[in-house]
Amino acid sequence: MGRTVSVHSYRGGTGKSNITANLAYLLASRGQRVAVLDTDIQSPGVHLILGLKAQRIVHTLSDFVLGRCELAETVYDVSRQIGLDPSEGQVYLLPSSMAVDDISRVIAEGYDVSRLGREFRRLMDELALDFLFLDTHPGLNRETLLTIAVSDDLVVLLRPDTQDYHGTAVLLEVANRLRVPRIRMVVNKMVNGMTPENVRAHVQAAYGQAVIGVLPLDEDMAIMGSRDLFSRVHPRHPLTMALNDVANHLLDLEQDH
Ligand SMILES: Nc1ncnc2c1ncn2[C@@H]1O[C@H](COP(=O)(O)OP(=O)(O)OP(=O)(O)O)[C@@H](O)[C@H]1O
Ligand SMILES: [Mg+2]
Repeated sequence: MGRTVSVHSYRGGTGKSNITANLAYLLASRGQRVAVLDTDIQSPGVHLILGLKAQRIVHTLSDFVLGRCELAETVYDVSRQIGLDPSEGQVYLLPSSMAVDDISRVIAEGYDVSRLGREFRRLMDELALDFLFLDTHPGLNRETLLTIAVSDDLVVLLRPDTQDYHGTAVLLEVANRLRVPRIRMVVNKMVNGMTPENVRAHVQAAYGQAVIGVLPLDEDMAIMGSRDLFSRVHPRHPLTMALNDVANHLLDLEQDH
């Protein structure tokens, strides 16, 4: 049975979209069937990292939540674009609309998350998915919280930053109240002078949740600027190794700390 994994953070720019896209790629490279759903309808972008050209997009998740199409019509197989061999797994993307009118309408009207949640299961079955990743809009807005509430797993991202630390405490309290079954944490953009072990111990002690990855702030990633999949372009890079460890935790190949 596949799992729905929300990737979320209290503040923006923590790396949710890049990390989600790379985890999808790394898991698919190991034979998993993965879908990425861009629930960041207010500021979408993960389609750029996964190489889905605008010309190919007919229907988006925004169309679905606005009642214009079925969820299945918003699914795009991007496996070939991202260089996956047909013998490997698959990556499907459900993009959101970049059209200003659609974005404004969804912001103004909100959307029915329970309908979307009900469709998750059907999508899992139809595509025989192992993982359905939900790339979210940052912060504690209503739709994002409801999306988290219908997920099996929540991966919370944060940077080593005082604003992130304080906001993440609030986010975790809300997630606990929403009774998300499993919460795990990833620290991104660790700077020189810190060690992964110290950061992990600090974050774990502060929040009482398993830390399944500590990723360095990396200039090569910054230079890539969300144009491509980092782990595909740099397969033996230390950041790719660290992302692979996170993928292992999601596969439960490694015990959570
Ligand atoms: N480990 C890293 N080292 C350096 N740059 C990084 C790292 N992780 C992500 N970035 C960069 O940080 C920026 C924000 O990343 P990304 O868009 O994935 O974050 P996000 O959390 O999805 O943002 P938003 O909250 O706006 O959706 C991008 O320019 C990305 O290349
Ligand atoms: Mg994002």
